[in-house]
Amino acid sequence: MDKILIKGGKRLKGDAAVSGAKNAALPILAAGLLSRGEHRLLNVPKLMDVVTIKRLLNHLGAAITDDDPDGCTVRMTGLNRCEAPYEWVKTMRASVLVLGPLVARFGEAKVSLPGGCAIGARPINLHLMGLEKMGAEITIEHGYVAVKARRLKGARIYLDPASVTGTENLMMAATLADGVTVIENAAREPEVIDLARFLTQCGAKINGAGTDTITIDGVESLDGSGTYRIMPDRIEAGTYLAAAAITGGEIFVRGCIPRHLDAVLLKLREAGVEIREEPDGARAVSSGRIGAADIKTLPYPGFPTDMQAQMMALMTLSDGLSVVTETVFENRFTHVAELRRMGAEIKIQGNNAIIKGAKRLSGAPVMASDLRASASLVLAGLAAEGETEIARVYHLDRGYERIEQKFSNLGADIQRIKPSV
Ligand code: EPZ
Repeated sequence: MDKILIKGGKRLKGDAAVSGAKNAALPILAAGLLSRGEHRLLNVPKLMDVVTIKRLLNHLGAAITDDDPDGCTVRMTGLNRCEAPYEWVKTMRASVLVLGPLVARFGEAKVSLPGGCAIGARPINLHLMGLEKMGAEITIEHGYVAVKARRLKGARIYLDPASVTGTENLMMAATLADGVTVIENAAREPEVIDLARFLTQCGAKINGAGTDTITIDGVESLDGSGTYRIMPDRIEAGTYLAAAAITGGEIFVRGCIPRHLDAVLLKLREAGVEIREEPDGARAVSSGRIGAADIKTLPYPGFPTDMQAQMMALMTLSDGLSVVTETVFENRFTHVAELRRMGAEIKIQGNNAIIKGAKRLSGAPVMASDLRASASLVLAGLAAEGETEIARVYHLDRGYERIEQKFSNLGADIQRIKPSV
């Protein structure tokens, strides 16, 4: 397994181009299953999770060609399976996103239950409740969920909590249902809007994406074709802005949409970082001083749970006391033990982490445990004195494209070490 080696202490300066959003690309690729057209997707990030879902779609019989440097063409004419096996789902729970499209298009789907992951149990009960309300017959056996429906019917579905992929799965399923579906307390994340835009281009009738009530008027088939550009990754963008803050540098994150990051920009400014919102991105300028700030993760437009670990890394070097409260997932503090090994002073009380800013962090060998926890260890390593070696960086590769090259271009002393054979 690859490792990443960082010699910390460099002030990062320069431009970082943000890639396409992982959490928009995954549902949009799954949504291709609904359509009989041909779609060219641009700004598709080169990430392990995207490779995984493409493999799953090819397993189902889709034809996906990576025909240009930043995109792919998706044709779903040759679909001949409706089963997503455990081997795919266990590596990436977002594989569950094929469930809604498959049962809507073909009347049946069989998907391995995702199981938990490092950050929590990650159930899919809301996905299944919604499909049941739409008339599907659900059976769970041998670790798989089988869903059958001659044709889904429009229904009124209330989600609690406002699950992101739950909203996406049900919105996709409803595009081909007989009648109108209303999803209430829907997730409002920008990635939901991006998916709705793609589905509309395919011929779906959707209103309200981005609000807490989404109305989908089902149609007989989705025959539209075309080219669609995936939105920029707001979490990758936030991670690079936090890197400027933690290293006392200046980074322009090109291609991000600042308004997608309002809650993150607010907290970075509270921590004393100068943020300049520019037409094609956002710039973070740090004086080197980091002020304490309290963070509470919430569904969008609240502070994103996917930026919690990165902001915690920043707070370990603040000049005061910060409280980070994680309200979305039940076990999203796996980075704390590793940050402590680097000298961070963090106390956990339930879903609160109390961070007393330290003067410095010291580099150490640490272990990545999930995607965003890995990102926080990279940030800490960039600021720490001495060398930090991060193991299990496959977690990072799931959600960050060419992270060591992008940080190296910003002046970081960072390299990927391949295992000696
Ligand atoms: C999406 O996960 C993202 N993944 C996550 O990003 C992100 O952290 C999360 O939304 C929250 O913003 C993708 O979009 C592929 P949820 P998702 O369903 O949809 C509970 C990353 O790092 N819940 O909104 O799985 C659940 O347990 C990843 O890129 C149910 O109880 O998250 C959690 O407590 C990590 N029943 C809460 O809802 C359900 O049926 C929010 O989960 C579904 C969810």
